Amino acid sequence: MSRPVLGVVIFTVALVLVFVWIGEVITKISGEGERRPSVAITAGNITPEAGEAVFWGKGKCSTCHAVGSRGGSIRGPNQGETGPLGTAIGARAEERARERARAAGKPFTAAEYLVESLLDPGAYVVQGYKNEMPNPMRPPIKLKPEEVKAVILYLQSLGGTADVAAIKLPPGLEAAAKAVATADEWKPYLAGDPKKGEELFFNPESNAACGKCHAVNGKGGTVGPELTGVAGTRDARFIIESILESSKEIASGYEPILVITKDGRYVTGILKKEDANTVEVVDSQAETQRIPKGEIQQKAPQKTSLMPENFREILTVEEFHDLLAFLQTLK
Ligand code: HEC
Ligand code: HEC
Repeated sequence: MSRPVLGVVIFTVALVLVFVWIGEVITKISGEGERRPSVAITAGNITPEAGEAVFWGKGKCSTCHAVGSRGGSIRGPNQGETGPLGTAIGARAEERARERARAAGKPFTAAEYLVESLLDPGAYVVQGYKNEMPNPMRPPIKLKPEEVKAVILYLQSLGGTADVAAIKLPPGLEAAAKAVATADEWKPYLAGDPKKGEELFFNPESNAACGKCHAVNGKGGTVGPELTGVAGTRDARFIIESILESSKEIASGYEPILVITKDGRYVTGILKKEDANTVEVVDSQAETQRIPKGEIQQKAPQKTSLMPENFREILTVEEFHDLLAFLQTLK
């Protein structure tokens, strides 16, 4: 080999190695949750792999669902074999379709069940869970029809048969989702200041003091759910209602109970643990109370959230908008 040719070969090999290395580093930095499809999904290239990227990325599905031992979210059913039926969603969908057919009095395919699960999550609510899954075509997630198809194809591939031809979305879906979103759009009448909102959130002396109970990026309390990505899956309406009417929808895993002991003590909090001998309740001050079962006279679920319900009285309009501006940055 002549010297210039050898030089080109060495240069090319070096370049490839650099790209491989950069690829590795980027994969490591971006981690599991951030995978993105390398090309935009179009009608012509819908694959389970593209759907997998939607599930763990743009679709935010993994903020509520795990797949087997991958991911740790428990708000929605596990889509792997760890689910309540012990089957992954691809197989489970067949079972559910039979159930839906009986209830609806008309045939229902497994693919139709999966389409319904995404576009009308409240139509069938999995036993033991709440109707709290957002429609991923609406803001803030805003999946496109091809991305919805791809993620369904990925779900089918988990224990079932991936068959893109079976996935039929109603026509005009994107326009309909857009129309509902526009009609629902919330416009703040004050432009809030996210910096001031952050200060209100974490300052325990402020009127808000949300950080006593909620964590954002590892900072704050654990009485209520972590809010690090709240605006990534929830629209403004949901966030506003959570603050002003906290008891309207109580987040799963945070249902309040009242325990009355035989010696007349009243303990209100969130049931964190229960075994044969003790009940563990976390109260609104984040104190864990361990109550031996022998001392309990009565234990009753409550309808009022542990989150204070008087924010509409104690926050000024300006403070409320500053807080919202801060919460909107949590995507
Ligand atoms: C904010 C939490 C949340 C997000 C985000 C979310 N889900 Fe769900 N999902 C739930 C909950 C809770 C349920 C169970 C209640 C119900 O059936 O609606 C559920 C149910 C389902 C089911 C039915 C499961 C079964 O066993 O029949 C499917 C399928 C599903 N989700 C897929 C998805 C996909 C795909 C995404 C992302 C595009 C997603 N979910 C995003 C919370 C969520
Ligand atoms: C005394 C503890 C406490 C304080 C203070 C508190 N919260 Fe909460 N919050 C909770 C609990 C417990 C829940 C879960 C039960 C429920 O949904 O009501 C919750 C739920 C929420 C949710 C719904 C989350 C979801 O994923 O469904 C939002 C949003 C929220 N709080 C925002 C706030 C903001 C903003 C503040 C400050 C203005 C605040 N909270 C102050 C305890 C608290």
